[in-house]
Amino acid sequence: MKVLEGKVWITGQGLTNACVGINDDGYIGAVKKILKGDVHTTTTDIILPAATDMHVHFRDPGNPEKEVWASGSAAAACGGVTAVIDMPNTIPPTNSPSHFEEKNNRASSNSVVDFGLGFYAYPGISKESWFKNMSPAFWKLYPYKFNWPEYQSTVNEIIANSPRPIVIHGEHPDYISYESLSSLSDHTENRSKAEKLCLEGMPNSSSLHVAHLSSQEGLDVLPSQASSEVCPHHLLLNLSCKVGIECKVDPPLRERNDNYALYDALRNGKIDILASDHAPHLMSEKSSAKPPSGIPGVETMIPLMLNEVAEDRLSLERLVSAMSEKPAERLGIQRGKLIPGNPADIITVDLKNKTKISLENLHSKANWTPFENWDAIFPSRVIRRGQLIATDGVLQEKKGGTSIFPPTL
Ligand code: NCD
Ligand code: ZN
Repeated sequence: MKVLEGKVWITGQGLTNACVGINDDGYIGAVKKILKGDVHTTTTDIILPAATDMHVHFRDPGNPEKEVWASGSAAAACGGVTAVIDMPNTIPPTNSPSHFEEKNNRASSNSVVDFGLGFYAYPGISKESWFKNMSPAFWKLYPYKFNWPEYQSTVNEIIANSPRPIVIHGEHPDYISYESLSSLSDHTENRSKAEKLCLEGMPNSSSLHVAHLSSQEGLDVLPSQASSEVCPHHLLLNLSCKVGIECKVDPPLRERNDNYALYDALRNGKIDILASDHAPHLMSEKSSAKPPSGIPGVETMIPLMLNEVAEDRLSLERLVSAMSEKPAERLGIQRGKLIPGNPADIITVDLKNKTKISLENLHSKANWTPFENWDAIFPSRVIRRGQLIATDGVLQEKKGGTSIFPPTL
């Protein structure tokens, strides 16, 4: 057994002097005041559960110029994220058992972090012969190809027929305008009512998870039983920031007041989950006449938010809950807490070790970030199932990630 000793985050107790015992299989064997192991490491850094990011786009298969499992998972690892859920809008989309299995194989061979896959939902999907045998991390519904009645009925269809969550991109298809844009605010304007009108029309169900909440208006009509997530860019960026058209993202950036409302909701737990919506596109595309939407963020999410904790704008308790405990709980997986039986997925952090985010140290093939030069605190160690995979933003392992929801077919 390996032992890591220091101030350990114990749910319900907070930081506590303790030892985490890690078995040879990479799972936590014990958490006790005193433990003896073959290898004993004592640290002055705080010891926290690593993060699960339930919203990334690793573009693999389909767009290797933007991201692949190797680069996306390296970015995750260096940012303190040891498990990701990949979204199904790849090429081809993850919308059939064979596409699901193919992506699962790619990830198994190339990801350094553990992973699950979201499955592309569409009207009538529950009637497919394989539907009941599929066990994706969740079903994901986009508003793009369907009209509103189809959108609503697909949500209800999945709630009625599957135990897995339905994650929605909560923008009403009839209120997304595709007018051309000359500035970032045009994009916001083109979608100004889409979030509110979509969320108002959603069923109040605990099967529902609302991705990337972006506005006060959307927050106000969030169904009370649904879970939800917020992304760093919707907490920290708005139209008054000095950002350009490259920060076109769906749902869009809004006003400072929206940042405040979302941040308060994260602080009080109304929004329970932090996710990156890591959506890498190349700067050449972003600066074109028709820029695609999306901001990369899996590597900067936890470092930015640890800095928020260091600056006393967010409590450590809320951060650990939103980055580790709640995503695991929502997905129904044994993770996110440092307790016996869970994978030893751990980050160690020195909250005084502030650095500046610098693109040259990041791993995404997107190769840009809106957070260049922002203060951040990178974990000193990132441990995935007992194995050290990153130190201070530097990758230490390249592979070894495994599927959290293996295909059952
Ligand atoms: C996503 C992407 O690039 O895949 N972009 C984004 O702005 N969030 C797709 C999407 O969620 O609409
Ligand atoms: Zn997304």
